[in-house]
Amino acid sequence: MILSIESSCDDSAIAITEIATNKLLFHKKISQELEHSVYGGVVPELAARLHAEALPKILEECEPYFDKLKAVAVTSTPGLAVTLVEGVTLAKAVSVGLNLPIIGVNHLIGHIYSLFIEKESKFPLTVLLVSGGHTQVMEVKSLTEIETIAKSMDDSFGESFDKVAKMMGLGYPGGPAIQNLAKDGDRKKYDFTVPLLRTPKLAFSYSGLKNAVRLAIEKADKEEYKDIAASFEHIATKHLTHKLNKYFQNNPPKTFAIVGGASANLYLRKQIQTILKPYGAELLLSDLKYCSDNAAMIGRVAVDMYKKEMFSSLEELDIAPKSNL
Ligand code: KG4
Ligand code: ZN
Repeated sequence: MILSIESSCDDSAIAITEIATNKLLFHKKISQELEHSVYGGVVPELAARLHAEALPKILEECEPYFDKLKAVAVTSTPGLAVTLVEGVTLAKAVSVGLNLPIIGVNHLIGHIYSLFIEKESKFPLTVLLVSGGHTQVMEVKSLTEIETIAKSMDDSFGESFDKVAKMMGLGYPGGPAIQNLAKDGDRKKYDFTVPLLRTPKLAFSYSGLKNAVRLAIEKADKEEYKDIAASFEHIATKHLTHKLNKYFQNNPPKTFAIVGGASANLYLRKQIQTILKPYGAELLLSDLKYCSDNAAMIGRVAVDMYKKEMFSSLEELDIAPKSNL
Protein backbone atom coordinates (compact mmCIF):
# COMPACT_ATOMS: atom_id res chain seq x y z
CA MET A 1 0.00 0.00 0.00
CA ILE A 2 0.97 3.63 -0.46
CA LEU A 3 0.22 6.43 1.98
CA SER A 4 -0.26 9.75 0.16
CA ILE A 5 -0.41 13.29 1.51
CA GLU A 6 -1.89 16.45 -0.09
CA SER A 7 -1.39 19.98 1.30
CA SER A 8 -0.75 22.20 -1.75
CA CYS A 9 -3.47 24.72 -0.90
CA ASP A 10 -6.30 24.65 1.65
CA ASP A 11 -7.18 20.95 1.89
CA SER A 12 -5.38 18.62 4.31
CA ALA A 13 -5.79 15.09 3.01
CA ILE A 14 -4.27 11.63 3.40
CA ALA A 15 -5.11 8.44 1.50
CA ILE A 16 -4.06 4.80 1.51
CA THR A 17 -4.12 3.07 -1.88
CA GLU A 18 -3.53 -0.61 -2.60
CA ILE A 19 -0.82 -0.98 -5.23
CA ALA A 20 -1.99 -4.24 -6.81
CA THR A 21 -5.65 -3.21 -7.26
CA ASN A 22 -5.69 0.65 -7.21
CA LYS A 23 -8.24 0.26 -4.43
CA LEU A 24 -8.72 3.28 -2.19
CA LEU A 25 -8.62 1.82 1.32
CA PHE A 26 -8.69 5.06 3.28
CA HIS A 27 -9.24 8.70 2.44
CA LYS A 28 -9.80 11.62 4.73
CA LYS A 29 -9.81 15.29 3.87
CA ILE A 30 -10.18 18.26 6.17
CA SER A 31 -11.09 21.39 4.19
CA GLN A 32 -10.40 24.87 5.46
CA GLU A 33 -13.07 26.68 3.43
CA LEU A 34 -14.83 28.11 6.49
CA GLU A 35 -11.63 29.52 7.96
CA HIS A 36 -10.66 31.26 4.70
CA SER A 37 -14.17 32.30 3.70
CA VAL A 38 -14.14 35.51 5.76
CA TYR A 39 -11.06 36.66 3.80
CA GLY A 40 -12.56 35.85 0.38
CA GLY A 41 -9.57 33.67 -0.52
CA VAL A 42 -6.88 31.41 0.89
CA VAL A 43 -4.50 33.02 3.42
CA PRO A 44 -1.29 30.95 3.01
CA GLU A 45 0.07 31.27 6.56
CA LEU A 46 -3.31 30.42 8.08
CA ALA A 47 -3.57 27.43 5.75
CA ALA A 48 -0.11 26.23 6.80
CA ARG A 49 -1.02 26.42 10.49
CA LEU A 50 -4.23 24.47 9.91
CA HIS A 51 -2.34 21.77 7.94
CA ALA A 52 0.09 21.45 10.87
CA GLU A 53 -2.90 20.62 13.12
CA ALA A 54 -4.96 18.49 10.73
CA LEU A 55 -2.38 16.28 8.98
CA PRO A 56 -0.93 14.58 12.11
CA LYS A 57 -4.51 13.91 13.29
CA ILE A 58 -5.42 12.17 10.04
CA LEU A 59 -2.11 10.31 10.03
CA GLU A 60 -2.94 8.81 13.43
CA GLU A 61 -6.01 7.17 11.86
CA CYS A 62 -3.73 5.47 9.31
CA GLU A 63 -1.70 3.61 11.93
CA PRO A 64 -3.40 0.23 11.33
CA TYR A 65 -1.96 0.31 7.78
CA PHE A 66 1.62 1.25 8.75
CA ASP A 67 3.09 -2.27 8.58
CA LYS A 68 1.68 -2.80 5.07
CA LEU A 69 3.09 0.36 3.50
CA LYS A 70 5.58 0.11 0.64
CA ALA A 71 6.04 3.87 0.04
CA VAL A 72 4.93 7.32 1.10
CA ALA A 73 3.86 9.87 -1.52
CA VAL A 74 3.37 13.60 -1.21
CA THR A 75 2.39 16.55 -3.39
CA SER A 76 5.71 18.33 -3.90
CA THR A 77 4.81 20.96 -6.54
CA PRO A 78 3.12 23.25 -7.64
CA GLY A 79 1.33 24.96 -4.79
CA LEU A 80 1.77 27.40 -1.95
CA ALA A 81 5.31 26.96 -0.61
CA VAL A 82 4.31 27.39 3.03
CA THR A 83 1.56 24.76 2.78
CA LEU A 84 3.46 22.27 0.59
CA VAL A 85 6.22 22.20 3.18
CA GLU A 86 3.76 20.93 5.83
CA GLY A 87 2.89 17.83 3.79
CA VAL A 88 6.46 17.27 2.63
CA THR A 89 7.84 17.49 6.18
CA LEU A 90 5.31 14.95 7.41
CA ALA A 91 6.04 12.65 4.44
CA LYS A 92 9.77 12.83 5.20
CA ALA A 93 9.09 11.94 8.84
CA VAL A 94 7.00 8.92 7.77
CA SER A 95 9.66 7.92 5.23
CA VAL A 96 12.46 8.03 7.82
CA GLY A 97 10.37 6.63 10.69
CA LEU A 98 8.99 3.65 8.76
CA ASN A 99 11.98 3.25 6.45
CA LEU A 100 9.96 3.74 3.24
CA PRO A 101 10.90 5.21 -0.13
CA ILE A 102 9.34 8.60 -0.86
CA ILE A 103 7.53 9.66 -4.05
CA GLY A 104 7.14 13.37 -4.90
CA VAL A 105 3.96 13.87 -6.92
CA ASN A 106 3.16 16.80 -9.20
CA HIS A 107 -0.23 18.19 -8.19
CA LEU A 108 -1.35 18.76 -11.80
CA ILE A 109 -0.66 15.14 -12.70
CA GLY A 110 -2.62 14.35 -9.55
CA HIS A 111 -5.66 16.12 -11.01
CA ILE A 112 -5.28 14.13 -14.25
CA TYR A 113 -5.20 10.90 -12.21
CA SER A 114 -8.39 11.89 -10.39
CA LEU A 115 -9.94 10.30 -13.49
CA PHE A 116 -8.40 6.93 -12.58
CA ILE A 117 -9.19 6.51 -8.87
CA GLU A 118 -9.89 2.79 -8.36
CA LYS A 119 -9.42 2.33 -12.13
CA GLU A 120 -6.71 1.54 -14.65
CA SER A 121 -5.06 4.60 -16.18
CA LYS A 122 -5.81 5.17 -19.86
CA PHE A 123 -3.85 7.30 -22.35
CA PRO A 124 -3.56 9.24 -24.65
CA LEU A 125 -5.85 12.02 -23.50
CA THR A 126 -6.46 15.67 -24.27
CA VAL A 127 -7.00 17.34 -20.92
CA LEU A 128 -8.50 20.64 -19.82
CA LEU A 129 -7.36 21.40 -16.26
CA VAL A 130 -9.43 24.09 -14.57
CA SER A 131 -8.62 24.77 -10.93
CA GLY A 132 -8.01 27.66 -8.58
CA GLY A 133 -4.38 27.85 -9.63
CA HIS A 134 -4.42 26.72 -13.26
CA THR A 135 -6.21 26.83 -16.60
CA GLN A 136 -4.35 24.54 -18.93
CA VAL A 137 -4.86 22.38 -22.01
CA MET A 138 -2.50 19.40 -22.17
CA GLU A 139 -1.82 16.49 -24.47
CA VAL A 140 -1.12 13.59 -22.13
CA LYS A 141 0.54 10.61 -23.82
CA SER A 142 1.52 8.90 -20.57
CA LEU A 143 2.47 9.57 -16.97
CA THR A 144 5.77 11.05 -18.12
CA GLU A 145 4.91 12.54 -21.54
CA ILE A 146 2.78 15.64 -21.04
CA GLU A 147 2.77 18.57 -23.44
CA THR A 148 1.20 21.88 -22.41
CA ILE A 149 -0.76 23.36 -25.31
CA ALA A 150 -2.26 26.47 -23.72
CA LYS A 151 -2.35 28.13 -20.33
CA SER A 152 -3.60 31.24 -18.62
CA MET A 153 -1.64 34.47 -18.91
CA ASP A 154 -3.13 35.81 -15.66
CA ASP A 155 -6.00 34.63 -13.44
CA SER A 156 -7.24 31.06 -13.70
CA PHE A 157 -10.81 29.99 -14.52
CA GLY A 158 -11.56 28.95 -10.90
CA GLU A 159 -9.84 32.02 -9.48
CA SER A 160 -12.06 34.30 -11.59
CA PHE A 161 -15.13 32.66 -9.99
CA ASP A 162 -13.56 33.21 -6.56
CA LYS A 163 -12.89 36.88 -7.30
CA VAL A 164 -16.35 37.56 -8.74
CA ALA A 165 -17.91 35.82 -5.71
CA LYS A 166 -15.77 37.94 -3.39
CA MET A 167 -16.97 41.12 -5.14
CA MET A 168 -20.56 39.96 -4.58
CA GLY A 169 -19.85 39.15 -0.92
CA LEU A 170 -20.47 35.42 -1.45
CA GLY A 171 -17.40 34.10 0.42
CA TYR A 172 -14.87 31.44 -0.62
CA PRO A 173 -14.77 29.23 -2.66
CA GLY A 174 -16.64 31.20 -5.28
CA GLY A 175 -17.22 28.49 -7.89
CA PRO A 176 -20.13 26.67 -6.26
CA ALA A 177 -21.69 29.97 -5.08
CA ILE A 178 -21.60 31.55 -8.56
CA GLN A 179 -22.86 28.35 -10.20
CA ASN A 180 -25.77 28.29 -7.77
CA LEU A 181 -26.64 31.96 -8.28
CA ALA A 182 -26.26 31.71 -12.07
CA LYS A 183 -28.79 28.92 -12.52
CA ASP A 184 -31.74 31.32 -12.16
CA GLY A 185 -30.06 34.16 -14.05
CA ASP A 186 -30.20 35.42 -17.64
CA ARG A 187 -26.98 34.43 -19.42
CA LYS A 188 -27.51 37.01 -22.18
CA LYS A 189 -28.33 39.98 -19.93
CA TYR A 190 -24.76 41.29 -19.74
CA ASP A 191 -22.80 41.36 -22.94
CA PHE A 192 -19.30 40.83 -21.52
CA THR A 193 -16.55 40.49 -24.14
CA VAL A 194 -15.11 37.02 -24.69
CA PRO A 195 -11.39 37.31 -23.78
CA LEU A 196 -8.71 37.01 -26.53
CA LEU A 197 -11.39 36.61 -29.20
CA ARG A 198 -9.37 38.17 -32.00
CA THR A 199 -5.93 36.80 -31.24
CA PRO A 200 -5.06 33.45 -32.83
CA LYS A 201 -2.91 32.62 -29.78
CA LEU A 202 -3.91 29.53 -27.81
CA ALA A 203 -3.94 31.06 -24.35
CA PHE A 204 -6.40 32.10 -21.66
CA SER A 205 -6.94 35.34 -19.79
CA TYR A 206 -9.52 36.16 -17.12
CA SER A 207 -8.37 39.47 -15.66
CA GLY A 208 -10.17 41.63 -18.26
CA LEU A 209 -13.44 39.75 -17.81
CA LYS A 210 -13.10 40.03 -14.03
CA ASN A 211 -12.74 43.82 -14.34
CA ALA A 212 -15.74 44.11 -16.67
CA VAL A 213 -17.77 42.12 -14.13
CA ARG A 214 -16.54 44.37 -11.32
CA LEU A 215 -17.84 47.45 -13.18
CA ALA A 216 -21.22 45.75 -13.71
CA ILE A 217 -21.43 44.81 -10.01
CA GLU A 218 -20.65 48.37 -8.95
CA LYS A 219 -23.61 49.67 -10.97
CA ALA A 220 -26.05 46.87 -10.11
CA ASP A 221 -28.60 46.20 -7.38
CA LYS A 222 -28.36 42.91 -5.50
CA GLU A 223 -31.35 41.49 -7.45
CA GLU A 224 -29.29 41.80 -10.63
CA TYR A 225 -26.40 39.70 -9.27
CA LYS A 226 -27.91 36.47 -10.57
CA ASP A 227 -27.91 37.82 -14.14
CA ILE A 228 -24.32 39.05 -13.73
CA ALA A 229 -23.30 35.62 -12.37
CA ALA A 230 -25.05 33.84 -15.25
CA SER A 231 -23.56 36.12 -17.92
CA PHE A 232 -20.10 35.84 -16.34
CA GLU A 233 -20.29 32.02 -16.18
CA HIS A 234 -21.45 31.98 -19.81
CA ILE A 235 -18.58 34.16 -21.10
CA ALA A 236 -15.93 32.54 -18.87
CA THR A 237 -16.96 29.17 -20.35
CA LYS A 238 -17.28 30.52 -23.90
CA HIS A 239 -13.65 31.65 -23.69
CA LEU A 240 -12.63 28.04 -23.01
CA THR A 241 -14.84 26.52 -25.73
CA HIS A 242 -13.74 29.15 -28.27
CA LYS A 243 -10.05 28.37 -27.77
CA LEU A 244 -10.67 24.62 -27.64
CA ASN A 245 -12.68 24.74 -30.89
CA LYS A 246 -9.74 26.51 -32.52
CA TYR A 247 -7.33 23.85 -31.28
CA PHE A 248 -9.62 21.00 -32.35
CA GLN A 249 -9.65 22.19 -35.99
CA ASN A 250 -6.13 20.85 -36.47
CA ASN A 251 -6.07 18.43 -33.56
CA PRO A 252 -9.39 16.58 -33.48
CA PRO A 253 -9.91 15.10 -30.00
CA LYS A 254 -10.50 11.40 -29.45
CA THR A 255 -10.63 11.16 -25.67
CA PHE A 256 -11.06 14.44 -23.84
CA ALA A 257 -11.07 15.02 -20.07
CA ILE A 258 -11.89 17.95 -17.79
CA VAL A 259 -10.17 17.86 -14.40
CA GLY A 260 -9.51 20.18 -11.44
CA GLY A 261 -11.76 21.79 -8.84
CA ALA A 262 -13.69 23.85 -11.40
CA SER A 263 -14.42 20.77 -13.55
CA ALA A 264 -17.34 20.31 -11.13
CA ASN A 265 -19.03 23.21 -12.94
CA LEU A 266 -22.13 21.78 -14.63
CA TYR A 267 -22.51 24.52 -17.26
CA LEU A 268 -18.88 23.99 -18.31
CA ARG A 269 -19.41 20.20 -18.52
CA LYS A 270 -22.47 20.71 -20.75
CA GLN A 271 -20.80 23.21 -23.08
CA ILE A 272 -17.71 21.01 -23.52
CA GLN A 273 -19.94 18.03 -24.27
CA THR A 274 -21.53 20.10 -27.07
CA ILE A 275 -18.23 21.02 -28.74
CA LEU A 276 -17.00 17.41 -28.58
CA LYS A 277 -20.07 16.06 -30.41
CA PRO A 278 -18.95 16.80 -34.00
CA TYR A 279 -15.76 14.81 -33.31
CA GLY A 280 -17.52 11.87 -31.68
CA ALA A 281 -14.99 12.22 -28.87
CA GLU A 282 -15.39 10.53 -25.52
CA LEU A 283 -15.57 12.82 -22.46
CA LEU A 284 -13.94 11.64 -19.23
CA LEU A 285 -14.84 13.32 -15.95
CA SER A 286 -13.74 12.68 -12.39
CA ASP A 287 -16.20 11.68 -9.74
CA LEU A 288 -17.52 14.97 -8.29
CA LYS A 289 -15.96 14.24 -4.89
CA TYR A 290 -12.50 13.95 -6.47
CA CYS A 291 -12.60 17.12 -8.64
CA SER A 292 -11.24 19.37 -5.90
CA ASP A 293 -7.93 18.75 -4.15
CA ASN A 294 -7.65 15.36 -2.45
CA ALA A 295 -5.06 12.75 -1.52
CA ALA A 296 -6.73 9.87 -3.41
CA MET A 297 -5.57 11.33 -6.74
CA ILE A 298 -2.03 11.77 -5.38
CA GLY A 299 -2.04 8.15 -4.20
CA ARG A 300 -3.28 6.98 -7.59
CA VAL A 301 -0.38 8.73 -9.41
CA ALA A 302 1.98 7.30 -6.82
CA VAL A 303 0.88 3.74 -7.65
CA ASP A 304 1.95 4.23 -11.29
CA MET A 305 5.16 6.00 -10.18
CA TYR A 306 5.94 3.18 -7.71
CA LYS A 307 5.64 0.61 -10.48
CA LYS A 308 8.16 2.64 -12.52
CA GLU A 309 10.39 3.08 -9.43
CA MET A 310 10.13 6.86 -9.67
CA PHE A 311 11.34 7.62 -6.15
CA SER A 312 12.83 10.89 -4.86
CA SER A 313 15.61 11.63 -2.42
CA LEU A 314 14.65 13.63 0.66
CA GLU A 315 16.74 16.58 -0.58
CA GLU A 316 14.97 16.68 -3.95
CA LEU A 317 11.72 17.38 -2.12
CA ASP A 318 12.98 20.49 -0.34
CA ILE A 319 10.59 23.37 -1.01
CA ALA A 320 12.05 26.68 -2.20
CA PRO A 321 10.93 29.52 0.10
CA LYS A 322 8.61 31.36 -2.28
CA SER A 323 4.87 31.67 -2.12
CA ASN A 324 3.36 31.08 -5.53
CA LEU A 325 0.47 28.96 -6.73
O1 KG4 B 1 -8.49 21.94 -7.77
P1 KG4 B 1 -8.89 22.83 -6.66
O2 KG4 B 1 -9.61 22.22 -5.47
O3 KG4 B 1 -7.70 23.61 -6.07
C1 KG4 B 1 -6.59 24.02 -6.84
O4 KG4 B 1 -5.73 23.16 -7.16
O5 KG4 B 1 -6.58 25.21 -7.19
O6 KG4 B 1 -9.82 23.96 -7.30
C2 KG4 B 1 -10.44 24.92 -6.52
C3 KG4 B 1 -11.10 25.93 -7.46
C4 KG4 B 1 -11.62 27.17 -6.74
O7 KG4 B 1 -11.20 28.31 -7.46
C5 KG4 B 1 -13.13 26.98 -6.82
O8 KG4 B 1 -13.87 28.20 -6.81
C6 KG4 B 1 -13.28 26.26 -8.14
O9 KG4 B 1 -12.22 25.33 -8.14
N1 KG4 B 1 -14.58 25.58 -8.26
C7 KG4 B 1 -15.51 25.91 -9.18
C8 KG4 B 1 -16.62 25.08 -8.93
N2 KG4 B 1 -16.34 24.28 -7.87
C9 KG4 B 1 -15.07 24.60 -7.47
N3 KG4 B 1 -15.48 26.81 -10.18
C10 KG4 B 1 -16.57 26.91 -10.95
N4 KG4 B 1 -17.69 26.18 -10.77
C11 KG4 B 1 -17.76 25.25 -9.78
N5 KG4 B 1 -18.88 24.53 -9.61
ZN1 ZN C 1 -5.74 21.39 -7.28
